[in-house]
Amino acid sequence: MKRLRYLMCPPDHYQVNYVINPWMEGNVHRSSQPQAVAQWQRLYQIVKQYADVELVTPAPGWPDMVFTANAGLVVNQQVVLSRFYHPERQGEQPYFREWFQAQGYQVLELPEGIAFEGAGDALLDRGAGWLWCGYGFRTMLEAHPYLAKWLSLEVLSLHLIDKRFYHLDTCFCPLSDGYLLYYPPAFDTYSNHLIERRIPPEKRIPVSEADAIRFACNAVEINRVIIANQMSTSLQERLQQVGFTVITTDLSEFIKAGGAAKCLTLRLDEPVAAVPAMAEVTKRLVSLRGHLVDSNLLTEALDRITDGGGSFQIERLHLGAHRPDPSEIQLWVSAPTEAVLDDILNNLIDLGARLADGMETPVRLEPVTQAGVAPDDFYVTTIYPTEIYHQDRWIRVQKQRMDAVIVVEGLTATCRLLRDLQVGDLVVCGVDGIRTLHKPTQERGQEFGFMESGVSSERRVELVVEEIAWELRRIRERGGKTVVVAGPVTIHTGGGPHLATLIREGYVQALLGGNAIAVHDLEQSLYGTSLGVDLARGRTVKGGHRHHLKTINLIRRYGSIRAAVEAGVIKSGIFYECIRRGVPFSLAGSIRDDGPLPETRMDLLQAQAEYAQLIEGADMILMLSTMLHSIGVGNMTPAGVKLICVDINPAVVTKLADRGSLESVGVVTDVGLFLSLLVRHLQQLGQPYHLRAA
Ligand code: ARG
Repeated sequence: MKRLRYLMCPPDHYQVNYVINPWMEGNVHRSSQPQAVAQWQRLYQIVKQYADVELVTPAPGWPDMVFTANAGLVVNQQVVLSRFYHPERQGEQPYFREWFQAQGYQVLELPEGIAFEGAGDALLDRGAGWLWCGYGFRTMLEAHPYLAKWLSLEVLSLHLIDKRFYHLDTCFCPLSDGYLLYYPPAFDTYSNHLIERRIPPEKRIPVSEADAIRFACNAVEINRVIIANQMSTSLQERLQQVGFTVITTDLSEFIKAGGAAKCLTLRLDEPVAAVPAMAEVTKRLVSLRGHLVDSNLLTEALDRITDGGGSFQIERLHLGAHRPDPSEIQLWVSAPTEAVLDDILNNLIDLGARLADGMETPVRLEPVTQAGVAPDDFYVTTIYPTEIYHQDRWIRVQKQRMDAVIVVEGLTATCRLLRDLQVGDLVVCGVDGIRTLHKPTQERGQEFGFMESGVSSERRVELVVEEIAWELRRIRERGGKTVVVAGPVTIHTGGGPHLATLIREGYVQALLGGNAIAVHDLEQSLYGTSLGVDLARGRTVKGGHRHHLKTINLIRRYGSIRAAVEAGVIKSGIFYECIRRGVPFSLAGSIRDDGPLPETRMDLLQAQAEYAQLIEGADMILMLSTMLHSIGVGNMTPAGVKLICVDINPAVVTKLADRGSLESVGVVTDVGLFLSLLVRHLQQLGQPYHLRAA
């Protein structure tokens, strides 16, 4: 058999001098030179038994030069030289360049700014001959198309997501006959699918985390002999079953720098069958304007790109000179496939980014072919004002809400629910010609609460309540609309009478809830209890558990809450006030409802439609202790409507207040307490200033 050739670099100047990967943390100046030399010598002797080894002279001051895997990628007589991501290693490049040139290789170099770390991130599949390339930490996705073109290889891009496995060769090792030793959690879902599509299950050898962190995947395979730092017996056995021999040799001194057997070698004679050159990498130019730095918009956008499996290159960046000036950035977003790119672009559009390549591109419209089902790549709406480019103009989308599709009829575009789609409707698809408009600042929803540390918390809730009272007052004065969404806890915590007061005094224009809040409110009015508990005295009333069903039965006898109020049976409470003041309400049913009350909508589609209609035109929505109804309402509400979410559970508040729009406020507190404070403040607002309580 022909002997393979490898390049190694003696560890004369090896040590851990800086930190550019998590393994180096805590190991600076902690490696032992004599031990490193001994370990390297043993590896060198082993490799030499099976292959020819060439040496490159180590250069002082470049301690990581021992890791020759990162010198470049050799294919036939060509080498693509590395362009290190970290300045700490960039000084190795000239030495490696010189060595390759002296050996007569044709040296190819990537354009400046495109990082590539050689065979550390580019591994030939030993079965089919395509090139697996990593990106995410060191090598940039943008380097992949160059490799494909220069080396005439099909390149498959893999997104590394665990910083301990920053180079592809730390967690991925193609073996003879198409076997693959790898650590799946080091890759994103998309990459795992790609691997699974290309490598049949019987050839995949996934390793445990314990093996992965011993650098079991960082192995050198020479004609079915695998050389690695360490491996569990079970993994060794697994490899033996399929005809490999394993040799382990301690490389702990090099693991302190984040490398082991494979990193310390570079294969010099990759025989390559001609496969059609192909790298699917696609890219689009995107622009983003706003308070990029102050509001974290830029960080958020870049995170969305990399988390989504893409990569970016900044084309132009203009920072506003003064605080109020907006900044603007144009960047190329690349992704391994069109589908991944579209997902990322959708995420960026939702942040307010615009596709910037060329002139305005019109939206793509696809017809609905099955009622209630949208075409595959339909655009999913958000709460933000959205415009589409259609027939040479930007058109504002009507009835903005989230989780809908955009239907275009003539020059009108409207948000429509999936279930309302009809055959022939034209639906906005893809990413072109869509833009969302954001407020100039992108602060997150605020949160106030008793739960927050610091002595001033209670005072802070008071301050928010004061502000809300003032806002409620203004909305009432200008004939605006406030909607209340309330859960039964409102009654249990004693908030019923206060909410009734708000309704009576004209602060509420619509009420949304479920069956329970109405039942408990009516029970309170009839029996003075709520689920059998006497709220005034705070204790359970004997036989009180029956009150709840008796209440339902009574209302059912009258046929409706309205009829019961008009008959004089119900004389107080939230629903009494609603009926007296003509405030519309909607009750959405659920699986746990008793009764239900005649008004409760057990048809949820109908309930959703009623809710949507009642919140239309709202200026403010008060969400009181009901996660389900509040989230439902949140989805129907466009940005710009002030949302106040009150709940004792901080998780609920966070979920609702964090809509990425600054109009939402979360208050972590008891609803009963909140409502009583609110009513007190409103009453004070009505009084001359000197009479108000401090
Ligand atoms: N300290 C080196 C670095 O972080 C280790 C390189 C290991 N090489 C490898 N092919 N994984 O760059």
